[in-house]
Amino acid sequence: MEAAGEGDEAAAALEQRLAAGGQGHVLRFWAELGGAARRALVEELRDMDVAEINRFFRRAREDGGGSGAAVKLDGRMEPVPRDVLGSACRDRGLLPRWESRGLAEIAGSRVAALLLAGGQGTRLGVPYPKGMCDVGLPSRKTLFHLQAQRLRRLQQLAEEQHGTPCHIPWYIMTSGRTMESTKEFFLKHHYFGLKKENIIFFQQGMLPALGFDGKILLEEKGKIAMAPDGNGGLYRALGAHSIVDDMERRGVQSVHVYCVDNILVKVADPRFIGFCLEKEADCGAKVVEKTNPMEPVGVVCRVDGVYQVVEYSEISLATAQKRGPDGRLLFNAGNIANHYFTTAFLKDVVNTYEPRLQHHVAEKKIPHVDIATGQLILPEKPNGIKMEKFVFDIFQFSKKFVVYEVLREDEFSPLKNADSQNGKDNPTTARHALMSLHHCWVLNAGGHFVDENGTRIPAIPRLKDANDLPIQCEISPLISYGGEGLEKYVKDREFRAPLIIDEDGIHELVKNGM
Ligand code: UD1
Repeated sequence: MEAAGEGDEAAAALEQRLAAGGQGHVLRFWAELGGAARRALVEELRDMDVAEINRFFRRAREDGGGSGAAVKLDGRMEPVPRDVLGSACRDRGLLPRWESRGLAEIAGSRVAALLLAGGQGTRLGVPYPKGMCDVGLPSRKTLFHLQAQRLRRLQQLAEEQHGTPCHIPWYIMTSGRTMESTKEFFLKHHYFGLKKENIIFFQQGMLPALGFDGKILLEEKGKIAMAPDGNGGLYRALGAHSIVDDMERRGVQSVHVYCVDNILVKVADPRFIGFCLEKEADCGAKVVEKTNPMEPVGVVCRVDGVYQVVEYSEISLATAQKRGPDGRLLFNAGNIANHYFTTAFLKDVVNTYEPRLQHHVAEKKIPHVDIATGQLILPEKPNGIKMEKFVFDIFQFSKKFVVYEVLREDEFSPLKNADSQNGKDNPTTARHALMSLHHCWVLNAGGHFVDENGTRIPAIPRLKDANDLPIQCEISPLISYGGEGLEKYVKDREFRAPLIIDEDGIHELVKNGM
């Protein structure tokens, strides 16, 4: 680096620090950069703790993350024991009790929702945050919109039952890549009718991508290849932005943490919260039964007696395929990224346990500038690693851990891929899952659908496969959170699809171009 001119003193100090950490090459193209690019690079590097990054790399490597880890885990994994498991199907009789306990907590404003929305949505391939996706529902509501309205409806239900006004603070974790557009989107949509002061945005950290030799990769000559530090970056971010303090100030005791991409997510689900409270758990995970060994979901299990999620990238096929005596997959507690934590537990994590969390290593094809030639390389095979912490890695520190199993059709349809990529977990499957569920709600509330000849359509609402078309039916979350309260709209009535029920009433045969 040629140190001459304004700001170069700072840059010279930076150079020393980088060189001491063996990362001096990131300034290799300094002389070619203009003033703005230099300033941006210095800004990017200013708070980067090179010694810490090197330490993370060594630890992640020693731990043997990635493919090697699967082999190590085999034989140490055990399924979740029955005594920590609650089930929305098997324990049907207990659901009203759990629900009313959860609603009482919500009514007391002791429950918060925390959305993990810092991911880059690489597989989906949209240039904006995933929560802004419109999957083509008749209402054209986005994922953020649906979640916000579910929160509004829950507040209303809790208020109706308990006669006190309440609110569910909504914490939204974004990353450097998603913060500005997410905030703008909420502003543009007037916070979807929620109070602005109850929506708290905060930003997770980023880490550089590294070559297999631990060297930081450059995305451009003056730009580091940075990526968010995984959804487990949550815990560091909670500390850095004093979020747990904010929760305490607001009197929050239970937090529902969830991923942005599940169109059916029951945000701040009172049953799940009530179940965890009844069990006096400090930490809980919601799961669905994993039926296909290849499905890309992590499984909740115990490893060496300690609860954790073994991620789909970390389990060997042989272990994923193991079956129990009942013929079901042995490791069938499919993680749907819906977690319960008490605020007290989160506080302990932030203050004590976070530094003990290990990074998971993903080997990736990372476009980068070749340090010797300055050429941009688009690798055809993995050339480096990204290091991420995972949100569920704190299960190991829980004193009382529970698992709550729900029906996939009711609660899980993630949006991971573009429609063009494959037939799974894409906008079409998400849209169909929501409409099929809402069709069920109408039938359960005593409504019927008829075809164009007025003949009743048989009541078999569940889709058998991705090619099956659902009856088009969408119910606004402001009308019903989980199927409740629909009798007054549909009981003993016949409808022709598409059917939309929203704040303005019932709309049938609305042209929506689908
Ligand atoms: C995740 C779960 C997996 C589960 C699956 C269900 C983790 C680590 N894995 O996998 O066990 O079976 O969902 O759909 O939770 N995110 C951030 N910051 C980041 C990276 C991601 O906030 O740095 C957020 C994303 O915005 C998203 C969520 O975390 O809301 C999950 O991220 P994604 O990468 O899609 O996880 P999966 O691999 O699908």
